[in-house]
Amino acid sequence: MSDNKHIVIIPGDGIGPEVTNQAIRALDAIGKKFGHQFSYSFALMGADAIDKTGDPLPQETIDLCKQADAILVGAVGHPKYDLDPSAKVRPEQGLLKIRKELGLFANIRPVSTYPSLYHLSPVKSSLLEHVDIVIYRELTGGIYFGKKELNEAGTEASDLCIYNKDEITRISHLAFSHAQQRKRKLTLVDKSNVLETSRLWRKTVTAMAAEYPEVELNCMYVDNAAMQLIINPSQFDVVLTENMFGDILSDEASVLAGSLGMLPSASIGTGTALFEPVHGSYPQAAGKDIANPVGAILSAAMLLDHLGMKEEANTIRHAVEWTTQNGFVTKDIDPMNFYFTSTIGELVSDCIMNKTDEAIHKANILIRKSTII
Ligand code: IPM
Ligand code: MG
Repeated sequence: MSDNKHIVIIPGDGIGPEVTNQAIRALDAIGKKFGHQFSYSFALMGADAIDKTGDPLPQETIDLCKQADAILVGAVGHPKYDLDPSAKVRPEQGLLKIRKELGLFANIRPVSTYPSLYHLSPVKSSLLEHVDIVIYRELTGGIYFGKKELNEAGTEASDLCIYNKDEITRISHLAFSHAQQRKRKLTLVDKSNVLETSRLWRKTVTAMAAEYPEVELNCMYVDNAAMQLIINPSQFDVVLTENMFGDILSDEASVLAGSLGMLPSASIGTGTALFEPVHGSYPQAAGKDIANPVGAILSAAMLLDHLGMKEEANTIRHAVEWTTQNGFVTKDIDPMNFYFTSTIGELVSDCIMNKTDEAIHKANILIRKSTII
């Protein structure tokens, strides 16, 4: 395996550039520590790309991504488009298009909890113990990409939800394999009491279970799953579901972690894999050095996992655990005593370089602790 990896960075909108900078810092620390060379190219997508080129996903970005070893995205989205339902070009189109162009059919969102953050979740702490879920969301099919129609009068609209067996099978193999390496539980979430596509999912996945005898497969209706995620989240290990249900359930599951800012994601498939924090572009915080960089940093860890650098990925995760458990957190986690985005990034990279507890200049760090509300 070559130690030279080329990563396309798409900082995107809002807080995207700030959080990706801290993820790059973590990657650079890993590079130094383990003797890898990471080279970066920067590319446009989202509102930033619309402003500069008129296109939410310029061809240049697609070409660059196709040749890279991995892609790291900050965030896309800008409120000026959210307020205008008739806008013809939107930042999110960039994200949807890159997923399709690169064949990124599986979106993987791990949700784990930190004891020091239990109090931030609206869910009772006693229910959060042992919560460790990975959601596999199908990403290039279903209602997102089916035929869309609006009648001439603009009074009737439809979105087609369509899936074929191959689309279901390829992501299901990934989910079964991952469950095999974890607690060996897979929950398929569908609405097979109503939807034909869900019945196809259930039939296909149930038939595949024979190939993974050590994995216990459960099937759950999506409405019940939405409730179970809140009343008994520790029952889940790997959750497998279609595009739209996965979009909704992954936001719901994120509240278990206490802050959306902590969560990473990976989108993998036939082309170059893409990694991005789950949070949005949070424009109100842009440029203030207050955004939580952990989601982006942990996305870099997933990127390393994907490149086969398991020890390196775990080193990043360990550093994040160390900062989080020691109270080095951003404003979303502690609005009274918080540290800046760049300080967290520095601490994570120091920790990666083994400069933990003793070596960290507490006094220096304290200067950058803000008590401004
Ligand atoms: C996500 C987002 C996107 C989606 C939006 C921005 C198009 O919500 O990645 O979950 O719906 O897939
Ligand atoms: Mg979403």
